Order: sequence, then C-alpha cells, then structure tokens
Amino acid sequence: MAFYDILKVDMEDDLAILRRKAKTVDRIDDRVRALLDDMAETMYASDGAGLAAPQIGVSERLVVIDVGNGLIKLINPVLLSSSGEATALEGCLSIPDRFALVNRPEKVIVEAVNTEGKPIRLRGKGDLARAFCHEIDHLNGILFTDKMLPESMVKIKENACKND
Ligand code: CO
Repeated sequence: MAFYDILKVDMEDDLAILRRKAKTVDRIDDRVRALLDDMAETMYASDGAGLAAPQIGVSERLVVIDVGNGLIKLINPVLLSSSGEATALEGCLSIPDRFALVNRPEKVIVEAVNTEGKPIRLRGKGDLARAFCHEIDHLNGILFTDKMLPESMVKIKENACKND
C-alpha cells in the first residue's frame, strides 16, 4: 500500500488534471485493486469521506468512499437516479480549509462495477448520497465550488501559520 499526495486546486498543474474527464476503466486487474487500496489509505490518512482517482493524479473512473459506515470502492460509477434535495456544507480534500453550501439529492441510486468486475447497484441517502454525487462529479472534472450556493464559502484556518 502507498500513500499519495492529493492534488490541490490552487496548483495550476493539479487543477488541469482535476478538470479533466476521467477515463473509463476497461480492465479490472491487480493494478486497479492496488490503486483502490492506495486511494483508501490516502483518504483515511487525510481524514476524508471520499476520494476520486483524479485527486491523486490518475485520470480514471475510480472512487473510494467512507462516510462512517464502511469502505465502498467503485469502478466506473454512474448516477442512475436521484430524488429529493438536501443542502449542507461540503468540503473537498483538493480544496483545503474551505467549505460551502451545496444542494444535492437526498437519495441516489448508483451503478458501478466492484473489484471482482461484477456490476453492483447501491442506494445512498444523506451524507452517502452527497459523497456519491461529489465523487462522481470529480470523474467529470466538476468541483463542489462549481455548484455551491453563492456567497456560502467558509474558510477555516487550521493553524496560524497557514496563509489565506
Ligand atoms: Co472532492
């Protein structure tokens, strides 16, 4: 397992990758399984609830999520349907110390492939629905700041040494 650096929006080269549409994963093999393990390790080490492969510089449709109910690994996830609406503060490991209000569906159904190459269908509501939407957006080069409610950005300083 390996820990990756997370790409940040304020670095020009990083942003170019974050804005790219990620490629479909055609072959589910040990490389992909190892990458998902590394993404999970990176997510947990960074205290994140989700991570998409573009955030570690890999432009492929891979996502890991853990909103507190266990690790979910998704290959080629697609949003099948959504219902309801919920507004909550959202953050992103690629946009450190900034949070904003984002409207998301209250419930979603996601279709993906698991690490054995089998199609899976998952339901999510609340935080999990939000994480599914946020991470699938990453695969399409979309960031939460594209969808945030106007003027809702909150900046949090982690310590006094950090610059704005
Ligand atoms: Co994010």
